[in-house]
Amino acid sequence: MRYIVTKMMMVLVTMVVMLRHCNGLNMNYYMMNGCPMADFIVKNTVNAALRADPTLAAGLIRMHFHDCFIQGCDASILLDSTDDNTAEKDSPANLSLRGYKVIDDAKQELESRCPGVVSCADIVAMAARDAVFFAGGPVYEIPKGRKDGTRSKIEDTRNLPPPTFNASELITMFGQHGFTAQEMVALSGGHTLGVARCASFKNRLKSFDSTHDVDPSIDTQFVKTLAKTCNGGDNAEQPFDQTRNMFDNNYYNGLQRQAGVLSSDQTLMTDPKTRNIVNAYAFNQAMFFFDFQQAMVKMGLLDVKETGQVRQNCRKIN
Ligand SMILES: *[C@@H]1O[C@H](CO)[C@@H](O)[C@H](O)[C@H]1NC(C)=O
Ligand SMILES: *[C@@H]1O[C@H](CO)[C@@H](O)[C@H](O)[C@H]1NC(C)=O
Repeated sequence: MRYIVTKMMMVLVTMVVMLRHCNGLNMNYYMMNGCPMADFIVKNTVNAALRADPTLAAGLIRMHFHDCFIQGCDASILLDSTDDNTAEKDSPANLSLRGYKVIDDAKQELESRCPGVVSCADIVAMAARDAVFFAGGPVYEIPKGRKDGTRSKIEDTRNLPPPTFNASELITMFGQHGFTAQEMVALSGGHTLGVARCASFKNRLKSFDSTHDVDPSIDTQFVKTLAKTCNGGDNAEQPFDQTRNMFDNNYYNGLQRQAGVLSSDQTLMTDPKTRNIVNAYAFNQAMFFFDFQQAMVKMGLLDVKETGQVRQNCRKIN
């Protein structure tokens, strides 16, 4: 209990500090800027979409992460390629990105109620927040007022963490965005939802080429599970944890059993620099929830644009 109270106070302090650094962003931005229904409309749209297809929650969270890690949270991920530009969207790193239609639907509704006010970048951030909540995770509020960017280039997606990274490399990459190792482990918990494709973990199995042994950090039974999945080909899907549509701390329990799917998952347990954090989250779901929501708010403020355009159509610059 005391932990939770302390943590809540830390969340408040962090939010106050963050707000001071982002004058343009505000929890009540749309209340004050002519679209008081904005949060409600996005929530309803996400709720309806997840009722029809719960697997979209993982896609929406990943979309926000991918957006923020490249060029800041500016909806660059939503731009379609044009004749003279190949967008982020068309990078191989896009495979698990889903939910573009949810964003389009919310945008359409928002444009009919309050045209030109609600940015696509904010919709992505709100949709991720709502996806966490409707999947059973923590409820949290986010500052709004982001503007939409105009650059989206396939080569920028090099800055996403590949599934082969070890803990040190993850700490370095997330550190470049201002995250601590603990925040990186908390954000990795986004893998409580969704699936990985065989192509992203088959290098850990022996069967596909005989030049190396099975990754020794995988449980011997779980190797068989992964190998079986890969019998379905490179695009075959393996859930990250046993409850792929439930936002919980099962992901960390899986890492303790050496049943992490990606190398970049299991490394968090293997490496002494992050192992204690994995154990703490596996033991205490409330702690994971608090740290996750705090890290999500922070991620949602990466290089946000306070001036610029609000796209009319999230797929095209105005
Ligand atoms: C992902 O990129 C590929 C090309 O690498 C493209 O064919 C595909 O349509 C993209 N998928 C999505 C969901 O945008
Ligand atoms: C992590 O990867 C880097 C780069 O490949 C390597 O130099 C380092 O030794 C690795 N760390 C561990 C603990 O394996």
